[in-house]
Amino acid sequence: MNTKTILITGGTGGIGKAAALELAKQSHYIIITGRDKSTAEKAVAEIQEESRNKRVDYLLADMSSLADINNLVEAFKSKYDQLDVLINNVGIVAHERQLSEDNIELNFAVHTLAPFVLYKELLPLLLKAKGARVVNVLTQNHAMVNRHSLSDFQSEQKYMGMNEYGKTKLYNLWWLYDLASSTSPHQISFFGADPGPNNTQLMTNAMQTGKSWPIGLRILRPVVMPIMKSVLKNKPVSNGARSIVFAATAKELEGKTGLYINDKGRIGKSSKLSYDTTKQQEMGKVVEEMYHLTIKKLA
Ligand SMILES: NC(=O)c1ccc[n+]([C@@H]2O[C@H](COP(=O)([O-])OP(=O)(O)OC[C@H]3O[C@@H](n4cnc5c(N)ncnc54)[C@H](OP(=O)(O)O)[C@@H]3O)[C@@H](O)[C@H]2O)c1
Repeated sequence: MNTKTILITGGTGGIGKAAALELAKQSHYIIITGRDKSTAEKAVAEIQEESRNKRVDYLLADMSSLADINNLVEAFKSKYDQLDVLINNVGIVAHERQLSEDNIELNFAVHTLAPFVLYKELLPLLLKAKGARVVNVLTQNHAMVNRHSLSDFQSEQKYMGMNEYGKTKLYNLWWLYDLASSTSPHQISFFGADPGPNNTQLMTNAMQTGKSWPIGLRILRPVVMPIMKSVLKNKPVSNGARSIVFAATAKELEGKTGLYINDKGRIGKSSKLSYDTTKQQEMGKVVEEMYHLTIKKLA
């Protein structure tokens, strides 16, 4: 097997850790990220032991901080000279509108901008690998957005937690498809991966109060909660990892790009709006402009 160097953000817990474990079992070189040193060290030791693969390492970064992302990139470049697969896995649920330390709405900072900045900054290393892949971890919630104007992309006028979560994941998919349309898959392929519902910290946060839910779902909460709980009981995180692992290493995806991998770990379809090429290009421009602004600030 061709050993790949794989960077997966948020690999200390949840679906990211499960995906890191499966990829380590495939004998690849795995670098996970987390925010806390001892949690990251513990996760690395557990993945190494269970996969019997010692080539598992970690780097620290809070994905809501552009300075941290910059440090992560520098640390990665100082240790590795090539990147075969970048997996943008970190996801959050923010019940209230919050700004990152860079004054960017938190969902946008973590789900949309951070993965793009990582991609841009690691591009020279991705180009060194033959047929590198970028995998953005998405959610079916992106399909909750069926009409959209980019005029309020930082949600200053209206904020509803789960909507922002889905919306910023749709943004992430738009720029991914935009790059896929302009990049040869022989250089880099771009895939979205939907893990489906899983019993993780993120899901616990999402279900905690119902505060972030759209009004219709909030009213139905007493009915919805028991259903959700029974669905999640039968969803080990290894299920969630399937789509990510397939997108990262499946041979049948060689030479392909711009695909959405569903929670069964197969090629599927994202929402109708996600295929709007005008929106894809608009979001491509937004993240490119924001990237240049951030780079100037960090220089
Ligand atoms: N769970 C689901 O039902 C579900 C469904 C569809 C899609 N997804 C997607 O799957 C991905 C993984 O979600 P999950 O459910 O596994 O979440 P999770 O269990 O909450 O994720 C935990 C990982 O994310 C890291 N993390 C959280 N916030 C971070 C931040 N600001 N900066 C850096 N790292 C951060 C954690 O690292 P620390 O050690 O630093 O805490 C940990 O490694 C997300 O993109 C999510 O949107 C999840």
